[in-house]
Amino acid sequence: MKYRVMAVGSEGVRLMMESALTARDRVGVQDFVLLENYTSEAAFIENLRKRFKENLIYTYIGSVLVSVNPYKDLEIYSKQHMERYRGVNFYEVSPHIYAVSDNSYRAMRTERKDQCILISGESGAGKTEASKKILQYYAVTCPASDKVELVKDRLLQSNPVLEAFGNAKTLRNDNSSRFGKYMDIQFDFKGAPVGGHILNYLLEKSRVVHQNHGERNFHIFYQLIEGGEEDLLRRLGLERNAQQYQYLVKGNCPKVSSINDKNDWKTVRKALTVIGFSEDEVEELLNIIASVLHLGNVQFAGDEAGNSQITTETQIKYLARLLGVEGTALKEALTHKKIIAKGEELMSPLNLEQAAYARDALSKAVYGRTFSWLVNKINESLSYKDPIYPGRKSAAVIGLLDIYGFEVFQHNSFEQFCINYCNEKLQQLFIELTLKSEQEEYESEGITWEPVQYFNNKIICDLVEEKFKGIISILDEECLRPGDASDITFLEKLEDTVGGHAHFVTHKLADGKTRKVMGREEFRLLHYAGEVNYNVNGFLDKNNDLLFRNLKEVMCQSENKILTQCFDRDELSDKKRPETAATQFKNSLAKLMEILMSKEPSYIRCIKPNDAKQAGRFDEVLIRHQVKYLGLMENLRVRRAGFAYRRKYETFLQRYKSLCPETWPNWNGRLADGVAILVKHLGYKPEEYKLGRSKIFIRFPKTLFATEDALEVRKHSLATTLQAAWRGYGQKSKFQKLRASAILIQAWWRGILARRKAARRRWAANTIRRFVKGFIYRQQPRCPENEYFLDYVRYSFLMNLKRNLPKTILDKSWPVPPPALAETSEQLKKLYVQNMVWSYCKRINPEWKNQLEQKVVASEIFKDKKDNYPQSVPKLFVSSRLSNEEVNPKVIQALGNEKMKYGVPVTKYDRKGYKARPRQLLLTQNCAFIVEEAKLKQRIDYSALRGISVSSLSDGLFVLHVPCEDNKQKGDVVLQSDHVIETLTKVAISAEKVNNININQGSIKFTVGQGGKEGIIDFTSGSELLIAKAKNGHLSVTAPRLNSR
Ligand SMILES: Nc1ncnc2c1ncn2[C@@H]1O[C@H](COP(=O)(O)OP(=O)(O)O)[C@@H](O)[C@H]1O
Ligand SMILES: [Mg+2]
Repeated sequence: MKYRVMAVGSEGVRLMMESALTARDRVGVQDFVLLENYTSEAAFIENLRKRFKENLIYTYIGSVLVSVNPYKDLEIYSKQHMERYRGVNFYEVSPHIYAVSDNSYRAMRTERKDQCILISGESGAGKTEASKKILQYYAVTCPASDKVELVKDRLLQSNPVLEAFGNAKTLRNDNSSRFGKYMDIQFDFKGAPVGGHILNYLLEKSRVVHQNHGERNFHIFYQLIEGGEEDLLRRLGLERNAQQYQYLVKGNCPKVSSINDKNDWKTVRKALTVIGFSEDEVEELLNIIASVLHLGNVQFAGDEAGNSQITTETQIKYLARLLGVEGTALKEALTHKKIIAKGEELMSPLNLEQAAYARDALSKAVYGRTFSWLVNKINESLSYKDPIYPGRKSAAVIGLLDIYGFEVFQHNSFEQFCINYCNEKLQQLFIELTLKSEQEEYESEGITWEPVQYFNNKIICDLVEEKFKGIISILDEECLRPGDASDITFLEKLEDTVGGHAHFVTHKLADGKTRKVMGREEFRLLHYAGEVNYNVNGFLDKNNDLLFRNLKEVMCQSENKILTQCFDRDELSDKKRPETAATQFKNSLAKLMEILMSKEPSYIRCIKPNDAKQAGRFDEVLIRHQVKYLGLMENLRVRRAGFAYRRKYETFLQRYKSLCPETWPNWNGRLADGVAILVKHLGYKPEEYKLGRSKIFIRFPKTLFATEDALEVRKHSLATTLQAAWRGYGQKSKFQKLRASAILIQAWWRGILARRKAARRRWAANTIRRFVKGFIYRQQPRCPENEYFLDYVRYSFLMNLKRNLPKTILDKSWPVPPPALAETSEQLKKLYVQNMVWSYCKRINPEWKNQLEQKVVASEIFKDKKDNYPQSVPKLFVSSRLSNEEVNPKVIQALGNEKMKYGVPVTKYDRKGYKARPRQLLLTQNCAFIVEEAKLKQRIDYSALRGISVSSLSDGLFVLHVPCEDNKQKGDVVLQSDHVIETLTKVAISAEKVNNININQGSIKFTVGQGGKEGIIDFTSGSELLIAKAKNGHLSVTAPRLNSR
């Protein structure tokens, strides 16, 4: 809401005003206060006309809304229009009835004061439509909940029902309200409509039995006949033809083009359901409506004595059923009158005229009371019950007054008298509240003021209502007076009593000119709104509003549930004379005035543009007349001279004090001084305001709006300051909380870390202590002092062992065990080595085994004994150095069964000259052969082999010792092999002479042939291998020195 105001702002208002100014020529001004020639009635009407032509039917006089009936649907009542006016300042948007509605609503909400909207204007000017528009506005725009929806619906739906029963076509208006209606809309503290209450005023009952020409009875009769289902009509005994009913033919106007009775019937039926009428209640209600129609058709005929008899029996039959009464009792009551004379009851027959009168009286009473029952019923359905405090009233109300407008017909009767009196009273209220009180206020506040002259209609009100001297008093007096009081005697009494009054004339009292237009049975009142001639015929009866006692008695017996509530039996025993209709009306109007006075009023002044109910026709004469009697010119003059806005100093200061540094935040001096300083600070010009005794008066709305806008801006900056402080505070506390939390967490975490560290230190110290202790006690048997240490030593040894186990069998490394584990370590080592050996062995194949076996033998023989042994170790022994192809086939043949197992090329040295000869050495199963080409040069049986000699040096020379005695043998053989270790190992294994290999230092002796001749081989070390016969006859062998030695 506020943002919208902000969005428009003062600049927006200025622009709008300017654009309004440029459009002024075409559409006039939207507030008469802006009219330059504001004292000219012609200018006033011209402005209305311009606007009316542009379909701008609404114009302000200050805060009063003037509305001209367009007699056509304008597209200005949509939901979008409602939204446009919602929460917006009155003068910021073009005049509209929604602006007035919203203004009242907001005033109610912000000031918590009950409001009322007074809608006035003559019949057909648009009052009822206006009240409906207001109600719709509230229904659509007010906050709502599900519960409220129903209330809203009921509030809206009460209209069609009340209109069906209380409105009728008149010459002035096709939908003329024939009753006065004041409706309170109740709101809860949230501003949602939660209930309603209706006060109804004086229904024009005479319409039930009679209508002037061109008029109709109440809508409901036609709706029932046109729209009622066949079944329903049959049950009610009705025909679908309004012409059949005496009560509907008087005005000779059954159909009206602007009214669709059939559709309206559907609307009313639906509305009755929404309001909460049960099916039974609707049925009873329609029974009553139908019975009124039947009553109208009851006919009488006179007998010889002139006493009336009923001639229409069927009607009585229907009536008895529909009204729930005894047929015969009804018949009797309609044709007789009960007279109590000297304590005795007598039944006196009625003549024809009296009987018709009694019948019509009954119809009026039944209809009138049913209407009141209907209003009560609607009130029940609208009644607000606080869900928590059932007795509590709603927070605030907005009253809507839509009462019959000022009315002048050709023939005016008691009803018009009452209606117009009512309008006088409302005009009086308007004068009191706007013209009079406003001017009085200026005076009492000491504001210099040029009084505006206006016509005060109090004089007419007094003429009508004054005690003893007023027309109503005189009428009552005539009604109560014993004797032959009549309408004419009433007229005469009037002439006697108020004959001299300036606003009262009769035929007799009038001058010649007036006399021509007045009947003898008429009196004329010069109302504020014009002259009206009232025909006194029927005044007494209508004022008495009497129902013969016996008819009342019959109705009290009714079984119709509605009628039992309408006709109370207590009424029969009540001897007191009921108040007359006019007095009742007067009293209820007085009460209404009180209600309205207690509320903050807003006004809507409705104007009727023409008498023909035509769109677009602007009847200037008619309008000038209304402008005059509505007092719009005076209204405007007071408004122009006066001030748009006034407030008590206190309220004003309280609201705007934030706009001035001196008054903010508190003003401690006199209120008037505070306000003076404030407005000075705001830059008000002297002509813009006046300071009274207790109030400030601001002349133009725009001044106030500027101030409101400033307040709005100020509110924002105040809000920003507050917000900033609050946010700062919020952030600060948040930060402090965060910091405190962080510190707390930190403290905890540090504590945890410190405790962990301490624990570690403690543990470390403990460990060290245990270590030291354990170390000291390490030699002791296991005891508490050393067990940790021992365990640790054991553990670390085992872990170390696990990491450093030897990878191969040849690797002899092994971690040094602690003393306590020496034995274990040994065991483990053994196990481990065994395991390694075992798994190594598992991997050896037979070939390799053979090789190894030979190597072992070689090792046994030569290791550490012969110099070139180490070089032979890495070289694998082969199975033979000679293949079969390399051995002469003849030799193979000569070998016969002896298969060659090993062959190697050797060099043989002659026994005598030591000549070197290339030979082959072949080994078989049993012997060794020396072969020269194809010849087996020498065979040495293994058994005959005595031994084998080699040097300890690196040469390849060796001697096979053979016994000389044997002839077959040629003596020891000196051979040289390049693979001496392999060759000799093979020989040793084949001949099983492993232990027979002599390794000699220096020299070898051997025998040469038979006779025991000896040869010597000398071995020396040298740079290279040299084998030659020395001078001493020895064979000299120089063996190269090898690095290994
Ligand atoms: N604002 C409006 N827009 C359109 N038509 C309207 C408006 N006000 C009144 N009328 C027309 O004028 C007729 C009479 O209005 P109504 O409110 O019944 O008059 P009142 O209650 O003053 O006697 C309505 O039936 C409707 O046709
Ligand atoms: Mg009306």
